[in-house]
Amino acid sequence: MGKVIAFMNMKGGVAKTTTAVNIGYTLAMEYQQKVLLIDADPQASATEYILENDQIAHVMKPENTLLALFDRDHANEQIIFPFTKRFHLIPSHQNLIYQQLDDHPFRLKEYIDKYHLKETYDFILIDCPPTPSGYTTLALLSSDCFLVPSTVEPMAIDGIPKLLTVVHNLKKEQQVDKPVLLGLLLTKVQPHLNVYRDTYQLLKEWGYEKYLFKEELKKRTEISRAVHTKQKKVGNQFMLNMKNVLIQEEIKRISSEFARKVGVQ
Ligand SMILES: Nc1ncnc2c1ncn2[C@@H]1O[C@H](COP(=O)(O)OP(=O)(O)OP(=O)(O)O)[C@@H](O)[C@H]1O
Ligand SMILES: [Mg+2]
Repeated sequence: MGKVIAFMNMKGGVAKTTTAVNIGYTLAMEYQQKVLLIDADPQASATEYILENDQIAHVMKPENTLLALFDRDHANEQIIFPFTKRFHLIPSHQNLIYQQLDDHPFRLKEYIDKYHLKETYDFILIDCPPTPSGYTTLALLSSDCFLVPSTVEPMAIDGIPKLLTVVHNLKKEQQVDKPVLLGLLLTKVQPHLNVYRDTYQLLKEWGYEKYLFKEELKKRTEISRAVHTKQKKVGNQFMLNMKNVLIQEEIKRISSEFARKVGVQ
């Protein structure tokens, strides 16, 4: 039985999308897992990260995206785009912003259940937007657990207790016992900086050390340049395919720690 994991942080730009896409791709391509990535952010960053321009043109029809869940009562498996044999995507659509998601907080969970997606996929990853909203509620209520990617600055980790409160309150309000915290993954890490050491110390003082992933995602220019169209043509936007072997090895280690923590591998 597969697991659903939301990538969530109330701070923007902390590499939620980068980690969701690259962990998903690596689990599929390196570890032969079946992975579905659901882009639950109307910014559609994960969709744009993964797909080439002509594929984006195809999926940008509302009926081929997450939007179909709300526009039509009967969204079917057509919204799942098979990017590779094992790495599939439910794209987002900008018009999601016009949907009253609060009226249907369980719509995505119902869809996952109806099509038995946890039997089809080993991992279902949901990329969330940064603000608590109908999208994050939709994602959290579909998930078994949630991963919090965070950059290593006091401003970024400030959001962690707030996020935990949001999840706690949601579970209480909806009387559900999921999602549980999978862990905190430090991103865009520059270990030589004082701010890294100071923030790490703060995380310890706040009692979060036990949730920290052993592996961290280092800050590297190649990663921020990844979504350039030229890179996408040859699949080089994915860390696993980048020339720098250190980046390849890092995403493999992060992905396998992720799989171990989720308990699927
Ligand atoms: N390890 C890294 N090294 C350098 N740049 C990175 C790294 N990870 C992510 N970035 C860059 O940081 C920016 C934000 O990353 P990303 O879009 O993944 O964050 P996000 O948390 O999903 O943002 P949002 O809150 O807008 O959804 C992007 O430009 C991305 O390319
Ligand atoms: Mg994002």
